[in-house]
Amino acid sequence: MNIAIHLHKDSNEPVYMQLYHYFKTEILAGKIEAGTKLPSIRYLASVLHISKNTVIDAYQQLWTEGYVESKEKSGYTVVRLPSYEYTATQKKMVHKERSEKDINYSLDFHYGDIDETTFPINAWKKTIKAVMEDNQYNWMMYGNKQGELILREALVGYLYRSRGIQTTADHLVITAGTEHLIRLVLSIMDKKSLCIGMEEPGYDGVRNVFKEMGLPISSIPVVEEIGHDLSELLNSSCNLTYLTPSHQFPIGRIMPISKRIELLKWAERTNGFILEDDYDSEFRFQGSPIPSMKAIDQHDRVIYMGTFSKAFLPSLRISYMILPNALLEKWKEQRITDSQSSSPLLQQALARFIQTGDFERHIKRMRKVYERKYTILIQSIKQYMGDAVEVISEKAGLHILIRVPLNKEERFLAKAEKIGIKIYATKSYYAEKKDCYPLLLGFGGLEEKEIEEGIQRLAIAWFN
Ligand SMILES: Cc1ncc(COP(=O)(O)O)c(C=O)c1O
Repeated sequence: MNIAIHLHKDSNEPVYMQLYHYFKTEILAGKIEAGTKLPSIRYLASVLHISKNTVIDAYQQLWTEGYVESKEKSGYTVVRLPSYEYTATQKKMVHKERSEKDINYSLDFHYGDIDETTFPINAWKKTIKAVMEDNQYNWMMYGNKQGELILREALVGYLYRSRGIQTTADHLVITAGTEHLIRLVLSIMDKKSLCIGMEEPGYDGVRNVFKEMGLPISSIPVVEEIGHDLSELLNSSCNLTYLTPSHQFPIGRIMPISKRIELLKWAERTNGFILEDDYDSEFRFQGSPIPSMKAIDQHDRVIYMGTFSKAFLPSLRISYMILPNALLEKWKEQRITDSQSSSPLLQQALARFIQTGDFERHIKRMRKVYERKYTILIQSIKQYMGDAVEVISEKAGLHILIRVPLNKEERFLAKAEKIGIKIYATKSYYAEKKDCYPLLLGFGGLEEKEIEEGIQRLAIAWFN
């Protein structure tokens, strides 16, 4: 039996549970068939460098739950599961475990994970407690429909300090997630005359909203060497465009000021709007931060969008936008009665966290943490893979792309999967079919040593 498991001895999950989860997942997925004998306790303990008791505990758990049966002197054998139950359980498992971390993989270069170990859990707990104690009951209700005023006020200061944006609390709308922001914007626009410019490749979460609404989309190609190619958009009949200028997702390019100005002029000329998604601008590891487009928007054509999912916690579900005056009026006419979808308690706690300076201290610290991870990732690729893969990245953000030799992407992914390492295809970010797609590696949630180990194991698998 091929056992592709990497045990994390310093994880919060006991090693016997990791082993148990591994076998359970393999059995449910049909990768270990009914009738198969599990490796002997002595053998498994010796190859995995763990104690025999750890293996016994894992096997015992599998036996207790009915995945294996035990016959005297012949060890543990996988039982045949009824097919209906098997499928149902499998679906449930995949759903449950995908929402945590994919248990099949010992190392997951998942994009969207943050560093859990450095999160200021005590300060955050104290802040939530303080809000509950000081505000007595105020945090228990539905909350302000536009977003808690105290958070919008804190954001005004933060956006000025960090992104050079001058705005007011009244122009800010808070909600749960970037996709929801996009839906809100579209809901106050005249859909009959809408034509949207969208980065290609681009963030699928947003593109899916445009597609779902049946809106015409015109591509803005983003090429590794030259970045955004605006020629088509500038001559099109589009009047709304979605962009990630500070760190294009997923390519990583930073849009130069000349193109930003061209776009702002285009928006003014066409009476159009620019949706500026500034999702991870806090994490730039070289040079000074690039001002946002909103900061240089002279004609109120930029809808600026920000999120706390990268800089703080994805589980908060707090994102915000700055609406230009024309759209703010419409929002107030049409959407002011919508209930707020983000928690008032968490919004109030976040406002305090920003006001006390804790939030910006956290960002400063995380910038260093992620910069180190980024550097280790790039150095490891260079050291273990040399010229076999090409790295596509700017010194920013929480992910990179790699390009493997033409037509070898699937093979590369399969080899990684075989050794229990998850890296990601980027096909879903492209609207148009391509000959080849780069692969994506997120590094925010992995430890430094895991990053190096992962790349080293990938290289061994690839070159052998
Ligand atoms: C380009 C881009 N924008 C925004 C987000 C964040 O979305 P949300 O605010 O819904 O967490 C992500 C997260 O993956 C992203 O990649």
